[in-house]
Amino acid sequence: MTNIVKAAQEAMKMAYAPYSGFAVGAAVRAGSGRIYSGCNIENAAYPQGWCAEASAISALIMDGERKIIEIAIAGGGDELCTPCGGCRQKLREFAHSDVTIHVCGPEGVRMTTTLGDLLPHSFGPENLK
Ligand code: THU
Repeated sequence: MTNIVKAAQEAMKMAYAPYSGFAVGAAVRAGSGRIYSGCNIENAAYPQGWCAEASAISALIMDGERKIIEIAIAGGGDELCTPCGGCRQKLREFAHSDVTIHVCGPEGVRMTTTLGDLLPHSFGPENLK
């Protein structure tokens, strides 16, 4: 668990967030056990920016992986930096409902939950079979 939390916190430091000033890091553990991370990348045309989770998923896919077995998100502020709605669905494509999500701050884990708790009764690839 410690490694994936550290990876999310390190990714947070790489965030490009000049507009919101809100840095986020995400790390996903693939089926192989390897950890892939990413940060949020904002854009002067605001809607074109994207979330840390999307960056981490991209890194995982580009390495030929297709399965996520553990997730960590790291963000600042006093509130829990839980994944946004869109990112919950993006994660669901590669992670089942029982996958653990560590919601972290710079100081460590603030809450551990599951994707199913954050996105109940979700629609996933199985629904199209
Ligand atoms: N952000 C993420 O990277 N992940 C989330 O799940 C929540 C929001 C980013 C997007 C934007 O760059 C900044 O946080 C403020 O919304």
